[in-house]
Parts: sequence; C-alpha cells; structure tokens
Amino acid sequence: MGRLIAISNRTAADPGARAGGLAVAVWESLKSTGGVWFGWSGDIVEQPTRSLHTMKDDGVEFVLTDLSQHEHDQYYLKYANSVLWPVFHYRIDLASFDADAFQVYVAVNQRIASMVADRLKEGDSVWVHDYHFLLMGDSLRRAGWDGPIGFFLHIPFPPPEVFRALPEHLWIARAMCNYSVIGFQSEQDRSNFTRYLIEDCKAKVLDDGRLEVFATTVKVEAYPIGIDAESFEAAAKTEKAQEAAERIGRFLGGRSLVIGVDRMDYSKGLPQRFEAVGRLFDDYPETHGTVSVTQIAPPSRSKVEEYRELRQTLDRLAGRINGDYGDLDWIPLRYLARSYDREELAGLFRIARVGLVTPLRDGMNLVCKEFVMAQDEEDPGVLILSEFAGAAEQLKAALLVNPHDKRKLAEVIHHGLTMPIEERRERWLELRKVVTEQDISWWRQNFLKDLDALQTGSS
Ligand code: G6P
Repeated sequence: MGRLIAISNRTAADPGARAGGLAVAVWESLKSTGGVWFGWSGDIVEQPTRSLHTMKDDGVEFVLTDLSQHEHDQYYLKYANSVLWPVFHYRIDLASFDADAFQVYVAVNQRIASMVADRLKEGDSVWVHDYHFLLMGDSLRRAGWDGPIGFFLHIPFPPPEVFRALPEHLWIARAMCNYSVIGFQSEQDRSNFTRYLIEDCKAKVLDDGRLEVFATTVKVEAYPIGIDAESFEAAAKTEKAQEAAERIGRFLGGRSLVIGVDRMDYSKGLPQRFEAVGRLFDDYPETHGTVSVTQIAPPSRSKVEEYRELRQTLDRLAGRINGDYGDLDWIPLRYLARSYDREELAGLFRIARVGLVTPLRDGMNLVCKEFVMAQDEEDPGVLILSEFAGAAEQLKAALLVNPHDKRKLAEVIHHGLTMPIEERRERWLELRKVVTEQDISWWRQNFLKDLDALQTGSS
C-alpha cells in the first residue's frame, strides 16, 4: 500500500490548531499509519512561495507553507471563515459574500495543490480535509494527479436551499465531484449534498449507491468521526487530570458542577446556553448555592467581527447572571476564555455532574465523546446534547435537547442534576459502547477502505 497523504489548512504542527477537532483527529489517524501531512504553517510572511517548512514527528512528515497577509485575509478570514463557515452552519445571515475573496480562495487551493502534486508518488492515497480545500481535488487533477482522492468535510453540509445562497455554489459542487470519495459527518449532511447534486446537477444514483454526475462517478457517504476513546479514558486518570479536578473541587466546595467546553464560536450556542442557565436559577431556586456552571471557551478567529461581538455578548450575559444570582460565597456561572490541555479537561469532565454540549449546529462535536470517556463508571455524569450536533445521530442515550428552547434546556439541566444513579449508569454504558466501538480507528479504517478500494480497482 502507498503512503497516506493528508491535506488540511491547520495541521498538528501548528500551535494555533489546538482548539479544533480536525487537527487532533487527523493526527490520531496519521500517527498510526505514517505518511505526509501538507498544510499551513500558521505563519504569515511576505513571500510565502519562497519557503517550505518540513519536519518529522512520530513517523509523520510535515510539509507546510506560510500564507501571505493577503491570502490570510481573503482566503482564510474572508472566504473560508466569513462565507463558507456561516453558510455551512445554516447562517446565511452572518455571511459576507465576497467575489474577490473567492478568487484568492481558488488561488490558494491551486498553490497548495501544486506543492502537493510535485511530491506525490504513484500508489499514494490522498485525503483532503475540510471546507478550506473544497476545490483541492479539482486543482490536483489540473496539476496532473489522476489517482484516487478522498475528501472529508468536518463541518455540516447545509440543505440545498441554503447552499444555493452561495454565489459560487455550482462551481464548488462541480469541483468537489473531482473527488473519488466524499465523506460527511452525518446522514443528514450526506443527504443534503446528494439532494443538491440530484436537483441541480442532474446526478443519478447508480445501483452500487455511487452518484453519476458531471461525466464521472463519486462515492458519497457518512463516516461519523470518533475519538481515541481508550487514550482519553486513560487521560482522565492521570495525575494532571486529578490535580485539575482537585483545583476545581476546592472552588466548588461540594457544589455540583455543570461543565461546557467549546471553541468560542457562534455555532456553539453559548449565549443561548447562558440564558438557559439564567432560567435554571430562575425556575429552580434549590440550585442557588448548590450548583456551579463552568464554561471554558478558548477565543477563536478574533479578527472576524462576528467573533468579537460574540465575546462581548458572553461577557455581558455572564456578568448579568452573576450580578443577579451570585452571593458572597457563590459564583453561579464561571466563564473562562482560555484553553486547558487535554488531561486537565478530562479531569474536569470526570468530576462534573452534567456536561453541556448544546451547539446550534455542529458537524460532529468531539467534546461530547470526550465527556463520556472521562466519566467514573461508579458515578457517571449526565450528557446533555443538542439534537443539531452530528453526534446526536450516534449518541441517542444522551439527553437530547433543542438548544433554542431555553425553558426546556433549563428543565433538562435540572433533570440531569437530579437523575438517579441507576439511570445515569444505564445511559452512560450505552454511550460508552458507541464511543468505544465507533472510535477514531473505526472512522479512519472505514474511510480508507473505501478510498483504497478505488486504488486497487475493486470498487
Ligand atoms: C473546526 C474546523 C477546523 C478548524 C478548527 C479551528 O474544527 O472544522 O478545520 O481547524 O475549527 O479553527 P481555526 O480557524 O482556528 O483553524
């Protein structure tokens, strides 16, 4: 079998990638197979085409390029994060459509494709990741690569009615059909994309399930991403995890902990969550002084206006809730705009009574899977999960909620806090089974099996 070649905007070599699920997931996969990982170094320089950075870590070779200021502004901040990100999360209202930015997006896809194509060898399996590189398959074909190319979208794919709002929707869909296998997080995403291809591009479904479209055939599937379940379980039992648990334990002073951990992003439903917490204290006075909510939210993409506004909204809401309900010896809602490392988070999850994962829209969400694996089997906490996270298709034993319904969310948090141990254990055992069985290796193997089948011509 040839080498595995991964291409993504952020790579695990970039310290700025720590807050996202992609870098962690691809890293866990690549470490076990070896291979080459192409992407952005995380740096901005004047002449990015002049320098390539190469390094090796744990059997994985990194080949990284810098971005120019113009590329960073137009490709990363504008087209990827102010157009594609909001539209793919069903938020046309937040998109700033920009034709010039699209041209730079095209150019960066092409520039990175030619850097990759120069280094590909026959038999390599190419695996492209996420919305930054929707056009990479097409660009690699233009650069002369004719082997199979897989693509995995880590974020949701919207319904055709929303996707059509993108002025470049047809261009993007046509380019995507140069991939041999296209993977989505959920059945819902797969069906949205397939419906678009059928309705707008005259795609036909073949007997083997593949789609015939634009004079080619594409395999379109859902491959829900998982975590390295075993290693996260172990992380929750390390000394560092225990230290973090003890530190927060001193602050809690015997109160029940409700915890949330999310990149500070409008798709995560944080203002709605804070308001629901306010409602919890309104509707259930017995929670006063006995429950403490901690939200960890590392800031993200703070150069984009919407993200700056979100930060202000959260500051205001947390201030109001603590002003209204707090007491000399009780902070009802703690909100920490910083990141903690994996083991510390595992320790905090382990002592939490309730884990709140309530995005308005999320491709998968890996925090909920980590929360499950960190629990103490004698006394597991309760997972509250948004029905709009991709993970809801798998984690049916969680308490599923509509994050827009604040009154209901407050009621469900209360239900989680008072759930008897038997029901907590029953639900947790079911969740743990899914997270362990459908872990990161299961995801990687499922995807690569389909991609490699094309390599050997057996599909
Ligand atoms: C999400 C995306 C990733 C991205 C991460 C962090 O998980 O799917 O592609 O890397 O967010 O965002 P950033 O803009 O910092 O790379």
